[in-house]
Amino acid sequence: MALLKILEVPHPLLKKKSEKIEVITDELRKTLNDMLETMYAAPGVGLAAPQIGLLKRMVVIDVSRENEPKKPYKMINPVIIDHGENLVVHDEGCLSVPEQYAPVERFETVTVEYLDENSKKQVLHADGLLSICIQHELEHLEGILFIDHLSKIKKDMIIRRVEKERRWKNSHQDKSNHQEEE
Ligand code: NI
Repeated sequence: MALLKILEVPHPLLKKKSEKIEVITDELRKTLNDMLETMYAAPGVGLAAPQIGLLKRMVVIDVSRENEPKKPYKMINPVIIDHGENLVVHDEGCLSVPEQYAPVERFETVTVEYLDENSKKQVLHADGLLSICIQHELEHLEGILFIDHLSKIKKDMIIRRVEKERRWKNSHQDKSNHQEEE
């Protein structure tokens, strides 16, 4: 397994729609495992293929807590086929928008249909954090990020903060590399 590079805003691939997967190959299965490993290492509770630069409709999710056994989901071509009427508001974050959080309104419960890695059709009824995470990850496949639910002012501010933080980290890294060379 390998850790993958996670794209960050404002990378253009994060705005693209992903393609349906026709054949589940060993290579895709390996990528799903790498995505899970990358998500756990980040750490995060969900990761969608476009976030690693792959415009294919697949996501990994694990919302289990630290002291619970792991419960990973690998979803291929996931579709929300039903949802409850109630809405909930939750502070969301995203590995492509590092260290930024904002409240987003979601359905409290959803039913998602997807293929597992063995091409078997699965139907999952989800509530709580799992429901929110499914809605967040599936939007990635449409090129939509949680910050797209915010006002333009708030969204632009968050992107500027991420860029500023990245510039700071990069310049800091350059300096430390330079010192090592000396
Ligand atoms: Ni995300």
